[in-house]
Amino acid sequence: MSDPTRVLAGPAADLPEGHQTAVELGGVSVLVVNFGGTYYALRNNCTHKDYPLLGGEVSMGRITCEKHGAKFELATGKAKTLPAVKPVKLYRAEVENGAVYVSEL
Ligand code: FES
Repeated sequence: MSDPTRVLAGPAADLPEGHQTAVELGGVSVLVVNFGGTYYALRNNCTHKDYPLLGGEVSMGRITCEKHGAKFELATGKAKTLPAVKPVKLYRAEVENGAVYVSEL
C-alpha cells in the first residue's frame, strides 16, 4: 500500500550532483535538489509571487528564483535575497535502496 506522505522522487542515479526535479506530495509540488551530493527538498514555489523554483540556478547552497531573483538557502529554506522575505517550506529528502524519497518533515 502506498504512503501518501512519502513519495518517490526517482533513482538516485537519475539525480546526480547538480540536478533537480519536482514531485507532488499531498497536492503540493516539491522541488528536490542534489547539491554537493546532498539531497534537499523544498516547496517548489517562491514565497514572493509563487513562481516555480524548479530550474533556478543553484550556487553556494542557494537556489535563485528565475522570476525576480530571490535566493533561498537549501538547508534552511530561508529567503536570503529580496524581494522574497518569507522562508520556503522544507521537506525531508532521503535515499533508501538507491532511490530518493520525499516526505513531510
Ligand atoms: S516570484 Fe520569485 S522572486 Fe518574485
